[in-house]
Amino acid sequence: MKGVILAGGLGSRLHPLTRITNKHLLPVWDKPMIYYPIQCLVNAGIRDILVVTGGNSAGDFLKLLGNGEEFGLQRVNYAYQKGEGGIADALKLAEHFAEGEKICVVLGDNIIERNIAKAVRDFEHVERGAKIILKEVHDPERFGVAELDGKRVVGIEEKPTNPKSNLAVIGIYLYDSNVFEIAKTLKPSRRGELEITDVNNAYIAQGTMSCEVLDGWWTDAGTFESLYRASQLVHDGGANRMD
Ligand code: DAU
Repeated sequence: MKGVILAGGLGSRLHPLTRITNKHLLPVWDKPMIYYPIQCLVNAGIRDILVVTGGNSAGDFLKLLGNGEEFGLQRVNYAYQKGEGGIADALKLAEHFAEGEKICVVLGDNIIERNIAKAVRDFEHVERGAKIILKEVHDPERFGVAELDGKRVVGIEEKPTNPKSNLAVIGIYLYDSNVFEIAKTLKPSRRGELEITDVNNAYIAQGTMSCEVLDGWWTDAGTFESLYRASQLVHDGGANRMD
């Protein structure tokens, strides 16, 4: 399976920190934010990685990461997203890289405590479809929120005012190669973006979406609050444990 890290967008929720640099280059405790999703994929056994970046300082990713030697990689692939067309817009840039293989997509501002290797391995044996990972949160209205019927996910709402559960859809997604056909059918949402939630709802409509609940902590780092909390979590307990 190949890995795709989405680190585009303009990070406008973090102005003025992101006025002259890219959100994913900001520090989370002792490392640049982008290190965490890379380590997450490497720990899951994924060695072929594309970083989709954009906005300010895109060239700095190359300076920082080079060929990924620090992570034991032989090379890192890069793509550039113009503007801030949304997560699914950034994902479209990975079609050529994926070459028809399954992919594990990680949002560049998502950090987890433990290892997703088992979810990745399980998904390798699935014939087709997608898998999302859920985590109980106290502020579901900030995220994509899953509605479950037993263990089956029956719908996802993006940042709902009245969430149907407290299960956020975290920014780690497993997709078969059909994801790029789905992405081509999307229309911009009210916030003018191609939404990853619309991609996931398309898989749910096809009946090929599975889900599981994450062990260990998870956080995004895209707001001042969550960026601060991410540094605290990494400092106190460490991220990307091997188990
Ligand atoms: O963190 C998980 C949440 O991420 C999910 O629960 C939501 O369903 C999903 O929509 C997303 O919500 P956010 O509104 O927090 O996403 P944000 O716009 O902050 O983008 C998250 C990452 O996606 C960002 O760090 C880089 C990448 N991205 C985003 C946009 C808008 C891109 O690569 N390109 C983009 O145009």
